[in-house]
Amino acid sequence: MASARGEFSSRFGFVMAAAGSAVGLGNIWGFPTQAASNGGAAFLLVYLVVAFTLAYPALMAELIIGRHAHANAVTALRQISNTGAQRLIGGSAGIIGFIVASLILSFYAIVAGWMMAFCLSSLLTLFGGESAAAWLTSFGFTRNVLGMLLFMGLTVAIIARGVRDGIERWSERLMPVLLVTLVVLVIYVMTLEGAMEGLKVYLLPDFKRALAPDLILNALGSAFFSLSLGVGTMLIYGSYLDDRQNLPLVGGMVTAVDIGIAVLAGFLVLPAMYVALHNGVEIFTPDGKLISEDTLIFTVLPELFNSMGLAGILVSVFFFFLMSIAALTSSISMLEVPVAYVVETRGVARRKTAYLIGGCIALVSTAILLNFDSLFGLVITITTRYSQPLIGFLFCIYVGWVWHRDQLLQELRKGNPDIEQGLFWKIWPWWVRLVCPTIILAIFLQSLLG
Ligand code: PFF
Repeated sequence: MASARGEFSSRFGFVMAAAGSAVGLGNIWGFPTQAASNGGAAFLLVYLVVAFTLAYPALMAELIIGRHAHANAVTALRQISNTGAQRLIGGSAGIIGFIVASLILSFYAIVAGWMMAFCLSSLLTLFGGESAAAWLTSFGFTRNVLGMLLFMGLTVAIIARGVRDGIERWSERLMPVLLVTLVVLVIYVMTLEGAMEGLKVYLLPDFKRALAPDLILNALGSAFFSLSLGVGTMLIYGSYLDDRQNLPLVGGMVTAVDIGIAVLAGFLVLPAMYVALHNGVEIFTPDGKLISEDTLIFTVLPELFNSMGLAGILVSVFFFFLMSIAALTSSISMLEVPVAYVVETRGVARRKTAYLIGGCIALVSTAILLNFDSLFGLVITITTRYSQPLIGFLFCIYVGWVWHRDQLLQELRKGNPDIEQGLFWKIWPWWVRLVCPTIILAIFLQSLLG
């Protein structure tokens, strides 16, 4: 269906954009360190199972609703509802999704701003600007706000250009650069002393740790965050897909790229940590666990880069550049959620909407920075731990219980006339109806009860 509201021009463009949304800080930073501290290859196995059995079906739910409605989440969920109550719940879920996407962007832009600051700092070091470089890597309000604003500016500039000229074009450019940078870094780090030890930690399975129940819950949380589920991002990207596309196939491609990059990032981050250990950098916490989260990225790795001389500065530029790109292709998908909603329902011009909403989110980020200790962690917890699974649950309910099964089949048939004969149609409809909601709910309750 040709539409005035924008559409991806090709399957490649869509896969790059959706994989760009999925591949972000969660993959390159979150996954490798979680795997390292939670049973190595065994965690990887659990993650793979969770990603394909729960995250992929939930991703399909969003893509199908979006492609069917060719509209934003609020309109789409109302459209497939049969009763007034369903329309109300669906519409509210869409609106909550757009608020959650904006809140995720508000903290994501702060972290991405740090990544850009570290990348710029290494570049300045290369050209002798030591004092500015030091300022860029030290935690301070001005540095944080400027980094965040720079990053938000780039995000807004891309979204203001629309689906093809903004999202698709930039994802097609940035994703290959991301992949090449990642591969080059992996190859280089592997040649360094100590790397093999890191590889062992990453690849030797410890099933006792990986099968602990809270770990499986963690793996689900990360898989949801990693595939950008439960905020309407994938729904809106699905709505820009044309009717000829085979949805289970493109969804599978996006999932595979997302997991592939996470796994590849493990081959960079873990070996790099043990190279750091070899160079005398502390990589364990006092209780013997591997350092993770912000200390890893902003302390351990920079110390490693410092200990490597000129090569280290170059690696640092590439590493933080990689992180910044990964963050940018994700952040544009977050901003697209509220922008698409306002453009479609209020008829405001896209450019104006992008700048306005981007500006509002930047204000929220500034408020978080002003109250960093109390707000930063809180916003992350509320959005990623509670809201994403809950809205993901609702999407599954709408596809599994609210939407008529024959309409669903018709939608899937568009890009794949023989879908009924395949495995996907035999398993997915009842899976998304029963298995996904039950498990998501169980996980949600578990995290609610602590
Ligand atoms: N998938 C992104 C990551 O792994 O970093 C995060 C993300 C993007 C979450 C888009 C939510 C979203 F809507």
